[in-house]
Amino acid sequence: MARLDGKVALITGAASGIGAATARLFATEGAKVVLADVADAGPLAAEIGEAALAVTLDVRQRDAWTVVVEQAVAHFGGLHILVNNAGIMIYNLIGDYTEEEIRRVIDINLIGPIFGVQAAAPAIEAAGGGAIVNVSSVDGLTVHNAMAPYAASKWGVRGFTKVAALELTHRGIRVNSVHPGGVFTALANPDGSLRKSDLDKNLAHNPIQRLAFPEEVAAAILFLAGPESSYSTGSEVTVDGGMTAGQYFDFLPGTPPALG
Ligand SMILES: NC(=O)c1ccc[n+]([C@@H]2O[C@H](COP(=O)([O-])OP(=O)(O)OC[C@H]3O[C@@H](n4cnc5c(N)ncnc54)[C@H](O)[C@@H]3O)[C@@H](O)[C@H]2O)c1
Repeated sequence: MARLDGKVALITGAASGIGAATARLFATEGAKVVLADVADAGPLAAEIGEAALAVTLDVRQRDAWTVVVEQAVAHFGGLHILVNNAGIMIYNLIGDYTEEEIRRVIDINLIGPIFGVQAAAPAIEAAGGGAIVNVSSVDGLTVHNAMAPYAASKWGVRGFTKVAALELTHRGIRVNSVHPGGVFTALANPDGSLRKSDLDKNLAHNPIQRLAFPEEVAAAILFLAGPESSYSTGSEVTVDGGMTAGQYFDFLPGTPPALG
């Protein structure tokens, strides 16, 4: 029996990157997947087949969340899993962000997942319980320069996850967060101009000296959404290649060879 047999999962930001990898993996594990995105998830739904439903969702729109949860329940008969994955990144110095940019990052990355839990939790409870996985970031555990609203949103997601875990676990819904490091997706390579090997060079000081593939993050999301994490709630799973463990000092022994 596959890990998610009989389960219905709603995945935001499912048209690309980590969300798409998660949808594919969940489907191979027996789940029905609702692919929610502002972008067209139709091609991925066609690839997956009858186990997938593509819906349009802007996670900033609270009313739209209600509609999408109703669509999921009407189409597949219930809802057991929510993956709050949709997110954006805008690099800038704090003093240079426009108000619109700050609000856009916070609205999509933080307010969206809160709306998602509000809309999905009653349906998940009605289906007999399940799991919510919120995709935060290493920037919800530590920070980097030039991404202040993003870091604020991802620290917010981490804290919100723990409140949701306290409120929902006794109602049958475990809530956990995933914290990816650099992942080779459109978010890390917006205009598609960079090769992975070029981006990997920026991570030469990490224990794992490369970006992740989205499938490596999807595996952690599957763990937290599935039965094997039955005793985990309010927890943080890092998939960061050791980025938050520490960084190498080149002038001391024990460092790996530099990337060429
Ligand atoms: N790529 C990385 O290096 C990295 C690292 C840490 C965390 N993350 C997080 O992983 C998540 C997925 O990112 P990704 O790397 O797969 O990026 P991606 O750009 O490939 O995918 C993000 C998806 O979210 C969708 N989206 C954007 N705004 C939306 C909205 N308002 N409503 C609904 N959908 C919307 C996009 O259309 C896109 O399909 C994000 O939350 C991101 O912050 C990514």
